Parts: sequence; structure tokens; C-alpha cells
Amino acid sequence: MEGKSGSWLLLMMVVMGWSVTSSSASFGDHYHRGSRKTDATSSLGFNRAAPSSIVLPVHGNVYPTGSYNVTLNIGQPPKPYFLDPDTGSDLTWLQCDAPCVRCTPAPHPYYRPNNDLVACKDPLCEALHSPGSHKCDVPEQCDYEVEYADGGSSIGVLLRDSFSLNFTSGLQLRPKLALGCGYDQLPGSSYHPIDGVLGLGKGKTSIVSQLSSQGLVRNVIGHCLSGRGGGYFVFGDDIYDYSRIVWTPMSLDYSKHYSPGPAELMVDGKSTGIGNLRMVFDSGSSYTYLSSQVYQFLTSWLKRELTGKPLKEAPDDRTLPLCWKGRKPFKSIRDVKKYFKPLALRFNSGRKDTAQYELPPEAYLILSSMGNVCLGILNGTEVGLQNYNIIGDISMQDKMVIYDNEKQMIGWAPGKCDHLPKPRSGFSFW
Ligand SMILES: *[C@@H]1O[C@H](CO)[C@@H](O)[C@H](O)[C@H]1NC(C)=O
Ligand SMILES: *[C@@H]1O[C@H](CO)[C@@H](O)[C@H](O)[C@H]1NC(C)=O
Ligand SMILES: *[C@@H]1O[C@H](CO)[C@@H](O)[C@H](O)[C@H]1NC(C)=O
Repeated sequence: MEGKSGSWLLLMMVVMGWSVTSSSASFGDHYHRGSRKTDATSSLGFNRAAPSSIVLPVHGNVYPTGSYNVTLNIGQPPKPYFLDPDTGSDLTWLQCDAPCVRCTPAPHPYYRPNNDLVACKDPLCEALHSPGSHKCDVPEQCDYEVEYADGGSSIGVLLRDSFSLNFTSGLQLRPKLALGCGYDQLPGSSYHPIDGVLGLGKGKTSIVSQLSSQGLVRNVIGHCLSGRGGGYFVFGDDIYDYSRIVWTPMSLDYSKHYSPGPAELMVDGKSTGIGNLRMVFDSGSSYTYLSSQVYQFLTSWLKRELTGKPLKEAPDDRTLPLCWKGRKPFKSIRDVKKYFKPLALRFNSGRKDTAQYELPPEAYLILSSMGNVCLGILNGTEVGLQNYNIIGDISMQDKMVIYDNEKQMIGWAPGKCDHLPKPRSGFSFW
């Protein structure tokens, strides 16, 4: 496996001007033929005042799996789907039998759409398109196209269906939320068989933003990915112990992505002078990416640091571009902790104080199947990220990372991610 790790970070979203009549494969055909009816049960009866959260266990790991998924039950009756949770994009979509023009293999049967279409003029549809480019050739439907940083894409139509969700308050609700019925998917370089993507970005269409506008949870997303694989996502702010978290303001310069603004790279507790890095937190990316110059600096520094140490570069190990072997195969990253210094990112929020994001060796190295260690920080320029730098899953392990869209803050704290959190009363996960 070459270092083709990927990113769901959204790069582009455009309207397609897809016509119902001009394409035999268009979504509209489904409705010409079909006579599906939506089940009109939507009495929610929830208590808007009750603070509540949703906790979703996540499966997967950085290596060897290279992806994560959460299970959501969607539709009436609800059916399970494995979705890739992505803080780098807003839209949730499922591979969809509309019928499907091009779908990729999926763990479950493709989603069968209902006919509860989101109209083109709906604010949720408008939020998906850049202002000015939003045309409504077919007013009753909302066409979308998303393209991700790894080259993967989905084209489809927005509709509403019910999501079965368990809240920490004990309630089980089935709110109707907008999702994409994706009938034309192209796999990207980091392709894994998946039923769809769970969009957790900043925008209005994000699932948490929709839940929040229905008064069900606060627009706050947290995740805790365990270094041993698995972990969980949390929607809502019911279960955080706010005192332990390092907070930094979300940068307003990035309207689409979660970023605390410019960072400086620190190595072994020392300043490098490499500042102004545009960092984006992206759970849809397994690895961390630095743009070419910073990547160049880091790899040269690592190579210098390792001279005279009992580790040799292992070009025969193709797991990732840069691997090192020891005298005998390593069993754990702990075996090399004395050779690899901690890195850190220092965010200067413009206020007096700075927030530091620590990257111990576990946050930037993987243990390959050959028993070598490989650098899990990759050259972002090589994959077309230009001057974006991405903090991927590898660097978010064993941390609680929180995106608070209510307060426009990003926070993090060391976290024990192996156990699901319980509601705040008498609970602590540190
Ligand atoms: C998704 O998670 C399930 C467990 O819920 C697991 O069996 C499956 O292999 C995972 N799929 C992918 C593509 O990671
Ligand atoms: C929600 O709770 C119900 C009842 O406790 C349980 O059967 C179901 O598996 C839960 N669903 C999810 C997605 O956790
Ligand atoms: C990073 O990728 C770019 C584009 O492919 C390449 O020109 C550059 O040499 C690479 N940098 C390093 C340090 O490998």
C-alpha cells in the first residue's frame, strides 16, 4: 500500500443544473415510475428544555484499516448504514438506489429514497451552493455535487428522511433530517466500501446543525478516537467537563472548515520559526498533512535527530513514504518513544495567550505490519492540498476534540476514548 491515505475534506460543491427530463438516469425518473409514499409519522414530542446529547460509537482505526465509521439507522422503517464521520464537510449522503447510475460497493443495500424532496429554494439547499451559482432549473428539487480532497465525489438530490437517534436523556427520537441521495459516486484515492458520509462541518446542512435548529442538541461536536481503534463521537454539550479543555477561537477566515487559525510548528518544545500554518481539523482524513516546505523541514529534522540512533530508514516498507526499522521488529510505538521527540502546534489566537496542541510520537507514527515505524505526517502538496495543512485522525487519537459552533471555539483535552462517556452527572472521562 502506497501512502494514498485520504481525506474527505471538501474541496468543491457546485450546483449541477441537472434536468429531470434530459437525462434518462436522473433522479426525477424514479418519481415518474415510482409511487412511493412517505410515512407521515413525525410527532416528536420531545422536551426542548432538556439538555441532551447523542453518543455514537465509532469503529475503525488509522492503520491498518485507514477509515472510521459510525452506524446510523435511517428511513422508515429504519435501516442501518455505515457512514464515514467527516468534520471536513457538511453534507450527509447515502449511496442511493434512485436508481443508481454509478455506485461503489457498499456494506449494506443502497438506500431507497422516499419522495420527501428538499426544494431548490430551501435554505438547506442554498447553504450547499456558493452564492450566485445557485440556479433552480428544477424548483422542486435540490441537486448537489460534492467533491472531496482525495478525488472522490457524489452527485445526488437532497431529501428528508427520519434518523433514529438515542439521546443521553434516554429518549429515542426519529427527527426528519435532510440528507443526500447520492446516485452517482466516484471513488477517491482513499476509497473504502462505505454506505455514505456523515457531514459534521460548520454549515447549515451538517447533521448537528440540523438537530440544533430543531432544538434537539446544541450545535457542538466532539470526538474521542482511541489509539487502540474505535472511540466515539458526541453531538451536543451535555457531557463535557469544560474546565479541563484547552480552548481556542475558531478562525473566521475559514468559513467552511474547522480551524483555529494560523499555527507555528514546535519540535521538542522549541520554536521552529515555521509559523502561519493554515491548520484544519478533519476527521475524514486518516493522516496528517503538511505542505511541502513544512514537510521538508520536518523530515530533514527527523532524519538529523535519528542519526546515530539504532534506527535505519526502511525504503522496502511501502506502508507510508517514510519508514524506519530497528534491530528487531518493534511491537509498539512505545519501543521508539525515546528516539522520537514530541511535536506541537502553537495556535496564536490573537489574544495574549496561545493554545498548544501536543503531538507525542503516537500522534504522528504508525507501527507497520512489518514491525517498522512510519511517519503518519504526509506531504499535502503531493495530494493537491496547496497551503492547507490537515490535522488528521492519527493526530487526534486519545484526545477529546470539540468543535463548539455555538461559541465558535475549538477545544481539546487528553481523553480516555476506550469507554463511552456517560451524561455529566457524576461522570468524568479524564
Ligand atoms: C464499520 O463498522 C462495522 C462495525 O460496526 C465493521 O464491522 C465494518 O467493518 C466497518 N466498515 C468499515 C468500512 O470500516
Ligand atoms: C437505541 O436504543 C435502543 C433501546 O435501548 C437500542 O435497542 C438500539 O440499539 C439503540 N440504537 C443505537 C443506534 O444505539
Ligand atoms: C511534496 O510534493 C511536491 C508535489 O508533488 C513535491 O514537489 C515536493 O518535492 C514534495 N516535498 C518533499 C519534501 O518531498
